[in-house]
Amino acid sequence: MKRSLLITAFIVILLVLAAVTLTISLASSEVKGTQADEAASDMPFWKTSIIYQAYPRSISDELPDGTGDLVGFNQRPSLMAGITSKVDYLRDLGVGVVWLSPIYESPMKDFGYDISNYTAIDPIFGDMDDFDELVARFHEHGLKVIMDFVPNHSSDQHEWFQKSVRREEPYTDYYVWADPKGTDEDGSPIPPNNWLSVFRGSAWQWSEERGQFFYHQFLASQPDLNFRTPAVREDMQKILTFWLDKGVDGFRVDAVLHLFEVKDMTLNEPEVPGSEDPDDYASLNHIYTTDLPETFPVIRDWRVLLDQYPDKLLMLEVYSNNMETLMKYYGNETYPLADFPFNFLLIDHLKNRSELTGESLRTTVGLWLDNLPKGKWPNWVVGNHDVRRVASRVGEDLVDALNMVILLLPGTPVTYYGEEIGMLDTFISWEDTQDPQGCHWGPDHYQEHSRDPARTPMQWDESKFAGFTTANSTWLPVNPNYKTLNVAAQILAQTSHLKIYRELAVLRREEVFMKGNVSFPVITKDIFTFIRHLESYGQYLVVVNLSQKPVEINLLQNTTQELPQKANVVMRSISDTSENTKPGMEVPLDKLPLTAGEGMVLTLSSEV
Ligand code: GLC
Repeated sequence: MKRSLLITAFIVILLVLAAVTLTISLASSEVKGTQADEAASDMPFWKTSIIYQAYPRSISDELPDGTGDLVGFNQRPSLMAGITSKVDYLRDLGVGVVWLSPIYESPMKDFGYDISNYTAIDPIFGDMDDFDELVARFHEHGLKVIMDFVPNHSSDQHEWFQKSVRREEPYTDYYVWADPKGTDEDGSPIPPNNWLSVFRGSAWQWSEERGQFFYHQFLASQPDLNFRTPAVREDMQKILTFWLDKGVDGFRVDAVLHLFEVKDMTLNEPEVPGSEDPDDYASLNHIYTTDLPETFPVIRDWRVLLDQYPDKLLMLEVYSNNMETLMKYYGNETYPLADFPFNFLLIDHLKNRSELTGESLRTTVGLWLDNLPKGKWPNWVVGNHDVRRVASRVGEDLVDALNMVILLLPGTPVTYYGEEIGMLDTFISWEDTQDPQGCHWGPDHYQEHSRDPARTPMQWDESKFAGFTTANSTWLPVNPNYKTLNVAAQILAQTSHLKIYRELAVLRREEVFMKGNVSFPVITKDIFTFIRHLESYGQYLVVVNLSQKPVEINLLQNTTQELPQKANVVMRSISDTSENTKPGMEVPLDKLPLTAGEGMVLTLSSEV
């Protein structure tokens, strides 16, 4: 009796163990998917994932008031919903990280980059329950959530500023205040120095109430916080902790270059020789207001805080043409800072098609790779909410090729919403212009400076307002090309930018793209190529025709390394409809036909 009981117990234990093992292996195969994913599982999420920048005002509008929001299906059921409802789209796209531009409480003078409460959600976007739902849903689907963190300045509506104006402790020194240099003939106070706002004009604003100037690197309604005040730094740590405790996966830090200014307010910044417009930010050399050494210990504190939590991402917005300056923001092995400062070189150096050649692209890519500090990881950005859309800057024909480049080079790609379908800039009239930077330049010059054209609603389908909203108007006009250029159409089409993007997102998970090395066998004025290679995992060749005409190239003639006679096509730009280069076909590398702006991914079967 005892014995049979023991046997039964033994069998039950075995069955339970088998069931547990089966469940674990099913669960892990569901999460990991492919063999390649498994291979990359020893890398942090931000190295293996694509980062997708969602500009919340323009993704999807549930509430509906014409401005996008976060609101999901569960909180407020309806047919159309905010970003949360796009979780399936984002997962199917193959991105792993979603960075949300600011969603905090804000008077929206700079569309969320002017924060009046760092730990509240602006009602335009929903409420904290909506945010919690977004994080939960995204995490359920394996997507990470990155917040935009804006430490350099708050809104003038922030309680801290209001109290600082009134010299209420402990807020008196929360902002950068300075006495006037004197008074002009009219008796008006003169700013302490010549420092300029990025958005043009003096960076100093007089406060009648306090009887002092305050400094604003951006709008006057965005006063700069004073990072020399310890309580400001402590408050910023508290804000980061608040969001980390809520489960966010990291931060993109805004305008970090501007965090400090020199203490001596009598110092004028030197003028850039030949500049004619004294109000233009570019007319001064910003040696006293950007990239000060005091910045690094502050970033270090953020890093240390983030590292108290498992697996958090810290990426910084740093615009500079100086490689040494940029690379400092990575820190080093003993003093790690950001996981990466954004690599804006592909934006800054390749402003239009005429600047974009095989040679300039090679140089620009090399600049980042060759200057990277030991053990650090590259990243690639071709667009964001502050610049014109890449398809408008360099040409629609290059959409697929550039996605191939940023998704297949070693490093993390960052995709601005809409780049996966090749969205274009939208023409915005002066009357419709919203962006303060555009407005500051006035009706004659706003088009050169306004950031509105790249911020218009996401084009989901061909219905009214491109499926963005059921409201009667939108905060910025929808691009009139939405009837044909939209997600739904590209899902239905046999070939499309979206389909190429999805394929690329799957391809880049392969070991060779995660861990392989890179070389650049053929670089000419028209042609940019690179090979990704990993011993015993094979190799891929990416070829891009940057010229505006079709070419037939001989890769064997101009190469710096031995290439096989033939290769197999994996994918090609949608503009190529030739019967001779269809995916799966073998093509000769000494006679490779490419359409204008085409990108092609090939496998090199033999090890060379
Ligand atoms: C950053 C943001 C930009 C904003 C500015 C001021 O550059 O990307 O959109 O206007 O900071 O916060």
